[in-house]
Amino acid sequence: MAKMGTSSRVAAAIVVVLGFVLSLAVVCNGGKTSSFVRKVEKTVDMPLDSDVFKVPPGYNAPQQVHITQGDQLGKAVIVSWVTVEEPGSNTVLYWSAYSKKQKSEGKFTTYKFYNYTSGYIHHTTIRNLKFNTKYYYVVGIGHTERQFWFITPPKVGPDVPYTFGLIGDLGQSFDSNKTLTHYELNPQKGQAVLFVGDLSYADNYPNHDNVRWDTWGRFTERSVAYQPWIWTAGNHEIDFAPELGETKPFKPYTHRYHVPYKASGSTAPFWYSIKRASAYIIVLSSYSAYGKYTPQYFWLEQELRKVNRSETPWLIVLMHAPWYNSYNFHYLEGETMRVMYEPWFVKYKVDVVFAGHVHAYERSERMSNVAYNIVNGICIPVKDQSAPVYITIGDGGNTEVLATK
Ligand SMILES: [Fe+2]
Repeated sequence: MAKMGTSSRVAAAIVVVLGFVLSLAVVCNGGKTSSFVRKVEKTVDMPLDSDVFKVPPGYNAPQQVHITQGDQLGKAVIVSWVTVEEPGSNTVLYWSAYSKKQKSEGKFTTYKFYNYTSGYIHHTTIRNLKFNTKYYYVVGIGHTERQFWFITPPKVGPDVPYTFGLIGDLGQSFDSNKTLTHYELNPQKGQAVLFVGDLSYADNYPNHDNVRWDTWGRFTERSVAYQPWIWTAGNHEIDFAPELGETKPFKPYTHRYHVPYKASGSTAPFWYSIKRASAYIIVLSSYSAYGKYTPQYFWLEQELRKVNRSETPWLIVLMHAPWYNSYNFHYLEGETMRVMYEPWFVKYKVDVVFAGHVHAYERSERMSNVAYNIVNGICIPVKDQSAPVYITIGDGGNTEVLATK
């Protein structure tokens, strides 16, 4: 977890995962940085009848309840859940100790993927919330009601401390459960999770068995129903399977996980930004076009200009494929995006970039590789105080083995 505050402009600090020896020339060897170290042996997925996947009791009971930020400032929350027997109500009933009960209406959607048909996936946005306030909310009205709560963030400002949890490449194995438990039990108490992509790993199953999207939703509910997880799309969200007749990328992900992309002027849910406390968080898509003249390129070019560091001194970027990676796993997969956007990150002094994808932890010094012009030979990263720190946290516990080489 990283505690954000302006008193400290030091690199985003303490991420609770494993530390490995780094080998890039400009990267220092930080050694082991946490006592929480995952075993190297391959793990397996928790069986379908595991308690973490239990369907809540009651007729048409809401399941897979999850929340995320619903606007740019943190005064709105998107509440999502799935019902199975029938659509049921789209209403969220919510209140705080200082306000009477209010209702918000949303919509539901469904989708098919090969031979799978989803439940009724509800998304309802609650708006005009007060900052720094605990709200209770109820879904499942008219059938089986379930109650949860969340705390809105403090008003955006330069001296507002906030603690983010960081998780990537989670999956639904026994190790995934350890990761989530470790996060929940951490005495630093994360207030929101920055999730850097690769959620359920359903696509590793025959026919991308989307039942594993449902089990993942039930597994993570115990955290994400109570605090927002800020979503980034990873390669396991693409679900592009022409052999199954499934040619629309990100179909399950976009139906299940809504994000407030329109609030930041984005035209697609894969790249967007939010402000939260003292942080400005930009989410990018490693798996959407990012070359010159693409929608993501135009958006990011405008977006970086909007960041007011006297309001949000912390500028954080989330993406799935890391730009700097000293492991042989996924080596250089982030390179073409780095070539496109790294000069902007240096110009606008991004503080820290979190990525997943590589199943390991590593953290760089501030470094850049923007001087190369084909003929000058300056083509290795150098220390650069205007550049971000790069942190890879892709060891969330999925069944694909850890990167160790
Ligand atoms: Fe990945």
